[in-house]
Amino acid sequence: MRFLILSDLHANWEALVAVLGDAKRHDYQAILCLGDVVGYGPSPNEVTTWVRTHADVVVRGNHDKACCGLTSCETFGTAAQYSSYWTLGALTDENKEWLRNLPRGPVQVENLDLVHGAPDDEDRYMFHEHEAATGMHHAREQVTFFGHTHVQGCFVAEPCRRGFDIRRLDALPVTLAVNWNRRYLLNPGAVGQPRDGDPRAAYCIFDSSSYVAEFHRVEYDIRTVQDKILAAELPKELAFRLASGE
Ligand SMILES: [Fe+2]
Repeated sequence: MRFLILSDLHANWEALVAVLGDAKRHDYQAILCLGDVVGYGPSPNEVTTWVRTHADVVVRGNHDKACCGLTSCETFGTAAQYSSYWTLGALTDENKEWLRNLPRGPVQVENLDLVHGAPDDEDRYMFHEHEAATGMHHAREQVTFFGHTHVQGCFVAEPCRRGFDIRRLDALPVTLAVNWNRRYLLNPGAVGQPRDGDPRAAYCIFDSSSYVAEFHRVEYDIRTVQDKILAAELPKELAFRLASGE
């Protein structure tokens, strides 16, 4: 089956619409979401309602938990805290209830595992090899998809005498064929708030039959989202960072 894999949508409706428009050409059959549907962005109900209606499997993110009142946002930075309280006030009861009931990752779909942060801890970041090593140790499947960092990328583990060597692919190919004797942690990147220096919305297509992952980026109307953020009186920095992709 071909999956459209989305993560970190962050209430960015314009980015989601652009991704869906671009992904049409990839002929996918199911949609998987790695969490952080809301938080930061100005369109929490539009994005949550869409994901609730269309995604086949969704795991919860740390912002999903905070924005529906399931957990505290005390550990968040100032802008994230402010946007969490704003989102809590903006979400409909129905959407809040749906977010409260999202499962914790990992969740298995066919031969894939889905997590928000890491296989061993849904809230843990995996930016670097040493952080990915712990995740790889706990991974149940050959291929695990994760989000949370907002960085599109891949960690690959190759068997060696002392176990396995992990490296991050710095030059990410558009098409990545899974090698039968390696293990992978794949990040589709963020739809709604990329932080890898590329402001374009990110997503991934994975074919579970051929074991091929495709990494994609698409431009969207950042200016409209920025205007909505400012009109909602959300912190200005949340608008500015969309343009830099940082
Ligand atoms: Fe996120």
